[in-house]
Amino acid sequence: MKLAVTARLPVDVAGRLRATAPDAAAAISVLGVPPDSPADRLPLDEAIAADPDGLLCLLRDRIDAEVMDRCPHLQVIANVAVGLDNIDVAAATARGICVTNTPDVLTEATAELTIGLLFAAARRLPEGERLVRSGAWQGWALDQLLGVPIAGATLGIIGLGRIGQKVAALGRALGMRVVYAPSGRGGAPPSSSSSSSSSSSAAAAALGVAPLPLPDLLATADFVSLHCPLTAETRDLLDRAALARMKPTAVLLNTARGELLDEDALCDQLEAGRLFAAGLDVYRGEPHISPRLLACPRIALAPHLGSATTKARTQMAELAIDAAVSVLRGHAPRTLVNQAAWPPRRRRP
Ligand code: GLV
Repeated sequence: MKLAVTARLPVDVAGRLRATAPDAAAAISVLGVPPDSPADRLPLDEAIAADPDGLLCLLRDRIDAEVMDRCPHLQVIANVAVGLDNIDVAAATARGICVTNTPDVLTEATAELTIGLLFAAARRLPEGERLVRSGAWQGWALDQLLGVPIAGATLGIIGLGRIGQKVAALGRALGMRVVYAPSGRGGAPPSSSSSSSSSSSAAAAALGVAPLPLPDLLATADFVSLHCPLTAETRDLLDRAALARMKPTAVLLNTARGELLDEDALCDQLEAGRLFAAGLDVYRGEPHISPRLLACPRIALAPHLGSATTKARTQMAELAIDAAVSVLRGHAPRTLVNQAAWPPRRRRP
């Protein structure tokens, strides 16, 4: 069997395979970036050409039905990410291909990055840094780069999953009042009929976080932070009309996915002074970033660093390797997202 890995990982895949599954190591060959190569990625086409049984990929790899059909023996797609919007999971399920992701291990890192952007945007740190580096700073001034307060402010979380819950807890520790809306477009408080909604409700109650319909959250929160997955339902969730509901003193944070947000409308709001600032880690069509975002001084920009700590990235890689190997050995992995694809249908004869 072949396990194709589309990126250089912070973990030696073959070494981990030998250490964690010595009985299977001889039966699984790993195809990845050669250790002596300056490249950090294995092109997806090369991975596909190897006719892999398992594919370890990153969120920059678009795995659609066509890719799956070019890999007739593919049993598992292990995404080294928690988000799955780069993978057509329904197409994988229809073909009996397992899909796995890397939840939990990146929750803290991503929540911390969100709070970093919250501070950067609220206190105008990128503008301050540019001023200092430009040599134009004239010294302390009473009215210089005034920001908005954090303690006592209301933090509105859209999508109270693992990362949203961690951000809520950090917000509470900063003395913020925290409210949340579920991630759906309807924006109604969670109903008890859906299991993910009821687990959000239980988490919210434990955190002391109040539910609000999305329009009310947008109208009342001083900080609005996106933490929902990108799906057909959430695409463009914060469109022009939604952004227009926000307070002119409010700050918008996005560490989820760029496609949740109308970036042009965001720039219009900021330029017109109808929104105070934004902190963004993700963009539509990454790695391309809209020139308007780049030109907008009130946006703190980060290059998709949510999970970028050595610890989180190492654990993500380990989790993805273990999930792929587990499927290839005939065991259902803990991080399987499409239960209906188990057991995989495409084993080699
Ligand atoms: C990063 O954005 C992830 O989904 O893990």
